[in-house]
Amino acid sequence: MLKLNRRIAAIKTSATMAADARATEMRLAGIDVVPLAAGEPDFDTPERIKDAARKAIAGGQTKYTPVGGTSALKKAIQQKLKRDNQLDYELNEIIASAGAKQSEANVIAALFDEGDEVIIPTPAWVSFAAMVSLSGAEPKFLPCSEESGFILEPDALRRAITPRTRGIMLNSPSNPTGAVYGAEQLSAIAKVLLDADIWVMSDDVYEHIVYEGTIPHLFDIEPQLKPRGIVFNSLSKTYAMTGWRIGFAAGPQEVIAAAGRLQSQNSGNPSSVTQAAAIEALTGPQDELAPMLEAFRARNALVVERVRRIPGFALPTVPQGAFYVFPNVSGLLGTSHNGAKITDGDSLAAYLLDQAHVSLVGGNDFGAPDHVRISYATSIENLNEGFDRIERAVAKLSS
Ligand SMILES: Cc1ncc(COP(=O)(O)O)c(C=O)c1O
Repeated sequence: MLKLNRRIAAIKTSATMAADARATEMRLAGIDVVPLAAGEPDFDTPERIKDAARKAIAGGQTKYTPVGGTSALKKAIQQKLKRDNQLDYELNEIIASAGAKQSEANVIAALFDEGDEVIIPTPAWVSFAAMVSLSGAEPKFLPCSEESGFILEPDALRRAITPRTRGIMLNSPSNPTGAVYGAEQLSAIAKVLLDADIWVMSDDVYEHIVYEGTIPHLFDIEPQLKPRGIVFNSLSKTYAMTGWRIGFAAGPQEVIAAAGRLQSQNSGNPSSVTQAAAIEALTGPQDELAPMLEAFRARNALVVERVRRIPGFALPTVPQGAFYVFPNVSGLLGTSHNGAKITDGDSLAAYLLDQAHVSLVGGNDFGAPDHVRISYATSIENLNEGFDRIERAVAKLSS
């Protein structure tokens, strides 16, 4: 019998990646699947960024770099944090990794231990809990109500903090709900966090995909949190660079140094070519984002309208950011068709993939089993086709 490490054995494949993999398999088998599961922009990486990578290869930037990224990249990240978030960091308070995911996994592994609790407001991105469990700590899910637009309530947060709590992971705009925290909501949460001596982690990877104005940063609103705050960000979503694998963390030097030691042992530097491309992405003209955002805005309006027309789907609040909607599908629980029973979001996603050839992700692993996540990082034609198919498949379900 194969015996795996106890913590690894308990880890499942990421639900979003599993949904993607199933859809890809079906497509390879010749089935026309409408992709509404992917967590990546459908746009191409801007040409100026690709050019920087081509130049880096031609110029021989093909060797190992310092583990946490070149100082040129760290300077570009430093400038970005100042420009977009009004946050000042020294270069030794910044680490670049192969995606925000790796920065998060390394920082979480560096900070937490057995016996610790880390609060994860839910619904939440599927990987946060797995990362916390891998560190040995316990993820403490804190459900946010749908009526409040999935915004964490300060009183609920205060009640959730125990003597064992060592950290909290915040994510605005949120994957999967699209919820965006405004300045007042952040201030109210900051007040509670000021009273608690815990690490405050802020996942900002969707920060530029917001449909009204720009979003404030928690550590700019409450600078007293910054000495125990860690910022995570990525180039994946903002610059359509998911495949390049580059993201970063910024925080107190000791934490970043510890994450760097771990990175030095388990992977090393993020790709040297990607780092050169990332410098161009962060410091060059930032004008590709506006057309992407316009496209997402139009899709958001379409998707909200179409989701609300499907019997059994409910979407009480309009998501203000990211490129997901997270409707409640409890109206369909207990229905079935041809032996397929809908018992939760995951079973509905499986039914829709089988019956309608539409891939989306069930809400179970996001901590919200009555929901499904629909990504609108795809064309208007795909969205219309996907929703036509979902409507037809849902119409076949009966109680
Ligand atoms: C909330 C959130 N954080 C982090 C990531 C990881 O981003 P990266 O591609 O930089 O690893 C994702 C990717 O889907 C995400 O949704």
